[in-house]
Formats: sequence, C-alpha cells, structure tokens
Amino acid sequence: MAQQVRGVVAPGRGEPVRIETVIVPDPGPGEAVVKVQACGVCHTDLHYREGGINDEFPFLLGHEAAGVVESVGEGVTEVAPGDFVILNWRAVCGQCRACLRGRPWYCFNTHNATQKMTLEDGTELSPALGIGAFADKTLVAAGQCTKVDPAAAPAAAGLLGCGVMAGLGAAINTGNVGRGDSVAVIGCGGVGAAAVLGARLAGASKIIAVDLDERKLATASSLGATHTVHAKGIDVVEAVQDLTGGFGADVVIDAVGRPETYKQAFYARDLAGTVVLVGVPTPEMTLELPLLDVFGRGGSLKSSWYGDCLPSRDFPMLIDLYLQGRLDLDAFVSETIALDGVEAAFEKMHHGDVLRSVVAF
Ligand SMILES: NC(=O)c1ccc[n+]([C@@H]2O[C@H](COP(=O)([O-])OP(=O)(O)OC[C@H]3O[C@@H](n4cnc5c(N)ncnc54)[C@H](O)[C@@H]3O)[C@@H](O)[C@H]2O)c1
Ligand SMILES: [Zn+2]
Ligand SMILES: [Zn+2]
Repeated sequence: MAQQVRGVVAPGRGEPVRIETVIVPDPGPGEAVVKVQACGVCHTDLHYREGGINDEFPFLLGHEAAGVVESVGEGVTEVAPGDFVILNWRAVCGQCRACLRGRPWYCFNTHNATQKMTLEDGTELSPALGIGAFADKTLVAAGQCTKVDPAAAPAAAGLLGCGVMAGLGAAINTGNVGRGDSVAVIGCGGVGAAAVLGARLAGASKIIAVDLDERKLATASSLGATHTVHAKGIDVVEAVQDLTGGFGADVVIDAVGRPETYKQAFYARDLAGTVVLVGVPTPEMTLELPLLDVFGRGGSLKSSWYGDCLPSRDFPMLIDLYLQGRLDLDAFVSETIALDGVEAAFEKMHHGDVLRSVVAF
C-alpha cells in the first residue's frame, strides 16, 4: 500500500521550501523504496529551487543520501530489503552506445523510478536528480541503490552520492592523477575539498588548494593540501607556477566553474597537462581562448560528470577506504540538521559557512 511520509518540496521558482506530505507508491517492477537515514544539502538542490535546472516544479529535493532498502518490486535482484545503500544518479542501462562500448560511467540513458511520488492531492513531484531523498522514504530505480558496508556512518556515506564523489572522481577518474603528480584545485568547497582528498589518495606529491575563503583553505590543508593560495587580489596562475618550479601543475581542477577560473586552470597547468572542469557553469557563461594556446600547450581539457564514477565500482571501494581510516568522509559533515532545517542550510551554504549540512532522520 502507498505510504505517506514527510518530504521537503520546492513549490515554485525562488520560493522557500516547505515540508509536505508525500505519497510514496509501493515499488513496481525494477523499483525499490528506501528508508532514508541521512541526506546532504548540495548546491544543486538550491539550483532546483531557484529554477536553474528546469521548470518542472514542484520538486522533491535531496539527492546525497544513504539509507536502508525497505521493499523491492518484481524482478529486482541486485538489492534486498535490509540492505544498507548509497543512492546514486547513475543507474546504468547497459544498452546505450556508451554502455555497449564498455564505458558505463558515461551512460546516456540512466534509470529512475517509473512511478511518480505525489502530493496528497495527486500532483506529481519531480525528484531532484531522480532521487528526492529529503523524505523519510523515497522511491527509486533499484539500480540507483548501491550496497555498501553497513558499518559506515550514514551521514558520511550519503555524501558519496553526489558532491564528494564528483570531487574525488574529478581527481582519480577524470584527471587520472598518479603518484608524484602536482595538482592544483581551484575552489575548495565540498567538491574541491574532495578533489584535494582524491589527489592525496592517488599519490600526488604536491597539492595546491586555491580559494577566496581562508576557512576553506584551512580545511583543504587538513585534508592533504601541501600548499594554499588565497586567490583574492593576486595572480593565481603565477602563484601556481611559483609553487611548481615555474612550470604549472600536471593536473588543474576547476571546482568553481566560471570563465575566469577555467582560464586560470588552463594557464596554471604545465605543458601537456590536464584541465578538469567539475564546477558547473550557468547558461550565459562563455569562454574565449587563443586557439593557438589550446594547440600549443597540448594535453587535455576534460569535463567531469559526477566524477566519471561508476557507483557499483567506486562506492563500495571508497567506503572500505573510509572504514580503514584512509578517506576522511566525516570531515565533510559540518553539521547534522533536522528535515525542517534545509532552508537555513541553503543560507549557510551561500555564506560559505559549511562544507555540508546533512539531514539526519
Ligand atoms: N560535475 C558534477 O558532477 C558536480 C556534482 C556536484 C556539484 N558540482 C558543482 O561543483 C561546484 C562546486 O560545488 P560545491 O558544493 O563545492 O560548492 P561550494 O559553494 O561549497 O564551493 C565553492 C567554493 O569555490 C570558492 N570560490 C568561488 N569563486 C572562486 C574564485 N573565483 N576563485 C577561487 N575560489 C572561488 C568559494 O569560496 C567556495 O569555497 C558547483 O558548481 C556545483 O554545482 C558538480
Ligand atoms: Zn547506458
Ligand atoms: Zn549534489
């Protein structure tokens, strides 16, 4: 029978979020209902509320979550009731051109639940990134549930579901950082700080954190940055070059996503180096670069969607490293809040006061 739960709904463009009663249907074929234990507040939730993603209001927000599978629909074999899972927004299809070529982390046809969660009056909700986990329970495609070791703290584990995975993956998957590389990370919020951690995990010998906020630089240092650059009023390219023998870094990760930071990343990298864009630009932003510099500096310019992660491969491995004390996911949980604290958490995020506020259920 369909269940009634509480959920955080964005009713219209720019309007404050509200707690509403959400109707969660029983899982149909290929679906699962998950009892949410923790869900982080991500910048993308705010983008949804502001109408920056699309106009399909009302949204059921929340997508960086961990919880326990409550029930599964017909034909579901990959997870069972009682499994501790991290929710992902890359349930790969196995059949699109990317999957068929053996590159499922680019899957172009990822799965979501087929049925809709609704408000009490029957209005269909659009779940953020096909998840909608600022709710006691949520309905997802079974492939969106990735089973991990239940010893992990839900608040920390859930963060792998989006921003922290994006940052870690920008370094270890997209940037392919290796032992002895020099890495610079521009913007050290939740995503950039995770990129710093990923660079350390991959064996980078020099990790330069760049931000406008001293607090973010302090966190980046505690996570493994070997050098910090306070970006305000200085030439970031020169600062990175000075720290790398005058050459620039092997890999530069732009975790802000603006034309000016992308240009800094482009010129702060060594010849034949790699730029990774993981920050998400807005539609009106454009970029102008001398084409001769694009050619003459060689290397590669890459974008990182969700850290090019494959949840089934990356989540269990990263949770194991976390449990071994080699990946400090707890450092990203600045505070735990109640379900009615999401609007205030947006405000704190806006002022740079937190890496992540996490709703605990
Ligand atoms: N690619 C993906 O799959 C993916 C996934 C999640 C989030 N994101 C994106 O990553 C970006 C960062 O997310 P976040 O949660 O870390 O945001 P955040 O707001 O927590 O962090 C942004 C950081 O950048 C710093 N900053 C801003 N302008 C700067 C500048 N000019 N120079 C240096 N530092 C500057 C800020 O001080 C802040 O610390 C966002 O654009 C977000 O949408 C991408
Ligand atoms: Zn696919
Ligand atoms: Zn997110």
